[in-house]
Amino acid sequence: RGLDRANNIADLRRLARRRLPGPIFDYIDGGADDEWSLRRNAAAFSDYELLPDVLSDVSSIRTATTIFGQPSQWPLMLSPTGLTRMFHADAELAVARAAARHGLVYALSTMGTTRLEDLAHAHAGPKIFQIYIFKDRGLTAEFVARCRDAGFHGLALTVDTPVAGNRERDRVSGLSLPPRLTLRSLLSFAAHPAWSLPALGGSKFDLANVSHKLDVLAGGPMSLFDYIGGQFDRSVCWRDVEWLAREWGGPLAIKGVMTPDDARRSIASGATGVMISNHGGRQLDGAAAPVDQIAAVRDALGAAPDVICDGGIRRGTDVVKALALGATACSIGRPYLYGLAAGGEAGVDRALTLLTDEIARDLALAGIADIATLSRRHVRRARSV
Ligand code: FNR
Repeated sequence: RGLDRANNIADLRRLARRRLPGPIFDYIDGGADDEWSLRRNAAAFSDYELLPDVLSDVSSIRTATTIFGQPSQWPLMLSPTGLTRMFHADAELAVARAAARHGLVYALSTMGTTRLEDLAHAHAGPKIFQIYIFKDRGLTAEFVARCRDAGFHGLALTVDTPVAGNRERDRVSGLSLPPRLTLRSLLSFAAHPAWSLPALGGSKFDLANVSHKLDVLAGGPMSLFDYIGGQFDRSVCWRDVEWLAREWGGPLAIKGVMTPDDARRSIASGATGVMISNHGGRQLDGAAAPVDQIAAVRDALGAAPDVICDGGIRRGTDVVKALALGATACSIGRPYLYGLAAGGEAGVDRALTLLTDEIARDLALAGIADIATLSRRHVRRARSV
């Protein structure tokens, strides 16, 4: 399969690109508008340099932490991603199983293709559910009740999608409104026999949690994007966060917070943490890179709340830098999706092994025996920036 020869996340991305039809790969890989934020998210890590300690006894290294009140073996978690069955038949279950094997927290998307009850049943590990506040608040309340019944440990409320982002790669490929596949994309489907709709159970992708079927070939009565666009509520505000926090009563992170003020407001409204995120560059193009906001957000919140850096993490050193700046942990989306597309559960496993091996090696090289001791003295803006 070539997974063993993947030496890093970039190699897994290349394998995914080879295996998937163009439009499907672009749906994972792409961002909004000119994809500036998408590129910047990863590039911003190179604006920081590490200042290692030496001779500090790194014979054993402690990487465990707590995220959403749950134990995590590594300062790393898996972000929610929608439509996962489009990338591999084993979909969310494969991702969750690999996450559990590595002792990591997994987040299931509202737009996922596995029912939250089925995921909870198959997956005993720490799990959170990514929720939206929909126009129909009753639908959101129903999700809260279902998550509680199913034993989810936390919620992540995504707040950077009052409207759908402008993903131009998806428009070009036809994976957009209305889903209208071009001859070129149909040829690309035919040219990638390793990825086939019959193997995935047909072209109807069941958004299992919202009872909506998206037909990637026919479009169906309503496209996914119309459906989502119709459910997003531009009037959502902080009062709704207070309502959700009361309704849920457990660990709650606001996903998509970018500024210290909004981070403070999140905690004041009842959240227990924030995920600094621009949705992997898929929503507001031009939004700052999450890593650049860590220090200010941590300063605003103090030591206790979870501050998770989400977006652009491709290397163990990215995680070490984020932690030194004040993050509790980092979260990844595309890195595990590349693995899933490249080789199902084994591919996700490979992605997680690569990243966790890198984190362990990088901590040793930086002279850090316990991630709790990482601090700002271990990192600075690169002189050349
Ligand atoms: C996402 N993301 C996302 N976020 C969310 O809150 N709900 C969702 O349904 C999705 N769906 C989704 C699909 C795909 C294909 C991607 C790539 C991303 C955003 C995701 O949770 C996370 O914020 C980013 O992926 C982080 O950036 P990196 O790690 O991909 O650079």
